[in-house]
Amino acid sequence: MIRRLYKTLLSVAVTSMLLFGNASAQDSTATAAAPAAGGDIAAGKTLFENNCKSCHNPDGEKLTGPGLKDITKRRDLAWLVKWIQNPMGVIASGDKYAVDLYNQYNKTQMTAFPALKEADVQNIIAYIDDYNTPKVAAPGTTPVTAAETGGGGFTSVIMIALIAIMALVLVALLAILRLLTKLAGVDTASTDSVSAVNFGEKVKEIFGNKTVRSAIIWVFILLAVKTTLDGLYGIGVHQGYAPKQPIKFSHKLHAGDMKINCAYCHTGVYKGKQAGIPAANICMNCHNAIKTGSPEIQKIYTAIESNKPIEWVRVHNLPDLSYFNHAQHTNVGGLDCTNCHGEVNKMEVVQQRSTLTMGWCIDCHRKTEVNGKDNKYYDKLMEAHSKTSKGAMKVEDIGGLECSKCHY
Ligand code: HEC
Ligand code: HEC
Ligand code: HEC
Ligand code: HEC
Ligand code: HEC
Ligand code: HEC
Repeated sequence: MIRRLYKTLLSVAVTSMLLFGNASAQDSTATAAAPAAGGDIAAGKTLFENNCKSCHNPDGEKLTGPGLKDITKRRDLAWLVKWIQNPMGVIASGDKYAVDLYNQYNKTQMTAFPALKEADVQNIIAYIDDYNTPKVAAPGTTPVTAAETGGGGFTSVIMIALIAIMALVLVALLAILRLLTKLAGVDTASTDSVSAVNFGEKVKEIFGNKTVRSAIIWVFILLAVKTTLDGLYGIGVHQGYAPKQPIKFSHKLHAGDMKINCAYCHTGVYKGKQAGIPAANICMNCHNAIKTGSPEIQKIYTAIESNKPIEWVRVHNLPDLSYFNHAQHTNVGGLDCTNCHGEVNKMEVVQQRSTLTMGWCIDCHRKTEVNGKDNKYYDKLMEAHSKTSKGAMKVEDIGGLECSKCHY
């Protein structure tokens, strides 16, 4: 009897752990693996949004270029790869389809993407096809990509937590069972020697046992603490935050395609604490003449005429208790913006790429070498450092882990 119970419990626990384990494995690979035939939709979506969205809709609607719905019915993969890598080359080769299309679009030149490989193009196509496939609304059957759920990271944490919980429960149950067997005085090899009535009494006895009770209580306390901690660590972390802005300003177009220097607009970034957001008159340096008819550009004029600043939505925001200085990092430290902000010059909409937690700051200070180039002050420090330590001088060695450096 007890032995059978023991066995059933064990198999239930093992099966469910396998199930959960599997789910989490699938989850964490969702961004990398190929969920649809011929391409990775999530990767395609990212590529499309970073490179194509400024000129193409994934549906049939025209933008600067044609809507890309059913593109594989119009052109084959080989043509598409050639075209995307070098559109002007295809047009110059006299390809009739390309030349006609080019004329139809008033000789607007599509950007060339020589870095995109055939696999990338396949991913983009997979995304476009998926975008145009009607979704079945039945719960559990809709293919939700990791990107839509906000990245696999959070869900896998939950899964891992669940597995941990299962393991704890299993251990507790096994402990109870072992005790049960002992108290019942049953040799586990001989089965069904305890009657059902007797068993009930024994169960009561066991839950009256102090050790068992405190074991159960501990399991619950640990679970509660873990859940609370997980929740707390999540508070205020906005990685991936990309709010909609009042004007469709594209960094990809301005900083990427047109290669305008970041500091042209973020004037404080090499000189001061704050990088700063440009005032509308910086935009006017160009837009008093460029795209004056565009409704998006009209919003800049309205802001200037009504003397109200454009209400950009703030993306990055450290709490007041911490101190961060841009010049210290970009100018003195010689760090590139991408270290902390990702490839902004490829973003249509700015997104927070780093966690901006204290751990993130500290982690970098532990592993990054101080930039000693052309810096007399550091020459002396480095000399002193090399006397006491063989390793390179890291930010932590100049006080980068001191609370007061980052907290007022
Ligand atoms: C700067 C704007 C621009 C960007 C960015 C752009 N395209 Fe285009 N694309 C065009 C234009 C305009 C055309 C029409 C042909 C022409 O004028 O050269 C076109 C045509 C195409 C065509 C042929 C469409 C058809 O109906 O046959 C495909 C496919 C295409 N683009 C794919 C892409 C992909 C994929 C990306 C991103 C990797 C991309 N384009 C990025 C402007 C752009
Ligand atoms: C033509 C002007 C212009 C250029 C050039 C430019 N930016 Fe921006 N940037 C803006 C504007 C306007 C905003 C506010 C709207 C938004 O978030 O898109 C902004 C916002 C940002 C933000 C988010 C600010 C926040 O609210 O937290 C970051 C980060 C950023 N830019 C980084 C860069 C980097 C890195 C470059 C160079 C690769 C760059 N920018 C080039 C105009 C510019
Ligand atoms: C150095 C010149 C320059 C500066 C500075 C500049 N832009 Fe632009 N902007 C351009 C050019 C060029 C285009 C592309 C026009 C085209 O598509 O032919 C453009 C396009 C745009 C578009 C897309 C318009 C549309 O309807 O297609 C928006 C929106 C825009 N800019 C907003 C801004 C804002 C906001 C600022 C200030 C933070 C700014 N720009 C600063 C040169 C500039
Ligand atoms: C060491 C990491 C780091 C580097 C390098 C860095 N930033 Fe930042 N950036 C941050 C942090 C952290 C914030 C949030 C600051 C806050 O909330 O006080 C921020 C905020 C911003 C903002 C929002 C406005 C502001 O001033 O707070 C802009 C714009 C910006 N950064 C642009 C840039 C540009 C452009 C570069 C490169 C020239 C750059 N950053 C390099 C970490 C960095
Ligand atoms: C990508 C790596 C990186 C990240 C992320 C980073 N830092 Fe730094 N930090 C540096 C480097 C490199 C220096 C050294 C600059 C120099 O040479 O003085 C530095 C220096 C500093 C200093 C001066 C330390 C001293 O002793 O002079 C402070 C304060 C600071 N960082 C705060 C922060 C804060 C706050 C954050 C997080 C919001 C942060 N940093 C994130 C790389 C980083
Ligand atoms: C390199 C910079 C840096 C150093 C050094 C540093 N902190 Fe922080 N600390 C931060 C930043 C940035 C935050 C805000 C993080 C966030 O919002 O998630 C923070 C947050 C905190 C918080 C608030 C936590 C919360 O959840 O709001 C406390 C408390 C704190 N730090 C204490 C300390 C103590 C104590 C030390 C010294 C042992 C220290 N910090 C050293 C950058 C630093």
